[in-house]
Amino acid sequence: MTVDDVRTLREAVSRRLPPRRFRHVLGVEQRAVWLARRLCPSEILRLSVAALLHDVTKDVADEDQPELCRRLGVAVTEEEARLPAVLHAASGAFVARRDFGAYCDAEILSAIRHHTIGDVAMPLFTRVLMLADFTEPTRRWERCKETERELLALPADAPPEAQRAHFERVFLSMLRRKAAYVDTLETPAETTARVCAWYAARIAAR
Ligand SMILES: [Fe+2]
Ligand SMILES: [Fe+2]
Repeated sequence: MTVDDVRTLREAVSRRLPPRRFRHVLGVEQRAVWLARRLCPSEILRLSVAALLHDVTKDVADEDQPELCRRLGVAVTEEEARLPAVLHAASGAFVARRDFGAYCDAEILSAIRHHTIGDVAMPLFTRVLMLADFTEPTRRWERCKETERELLALPADAPPEAQRAHFERVFLSMLRRKAAYVDTLETPAETTARVCAWYAARIAAR
């Protein structure tokens, strides 16, 4: 993967998505690269790819996502089937592989697959994409802005260990906000609550 590959992909995605969605995607890419510089510099280009493709099917309406997943033959969990707003992660991973497979490996596809409600024991790569999606600069929801302010509070020159600990704290606080939010929906996402508890226990055990 080269900088030129990522540029070519960015142009292809810009032609595919409406401007408002593309602005969000660029914000996620920007934040993911910002995080990668602090946490995993060798992953910058692959995180760019994951960010550029994570919402590739998000412009199919939520109510049409179940049909899209059926048509593509994408398996979804029972819980996801009750939450149409998260199904674009499942259809998106499929379409990313089908249409942009040359840019994707298994970890990139898995990060796209889990970027909405998450999964226990997600690798750092997926956690970076999730937090970047929630804190990208064009987000306007207060729960996102709060998380972004928390994230930006640590100086860029803090040592790597402090960067990592800070990231895990902010990631957990994002999960808590997500869990609290999805609990207000008609059908709460049990996965996010479970993932949140899993990471809280992991951090407490340090
Ligand atoms: Fe998404
Ligand atoms: Fe997104």
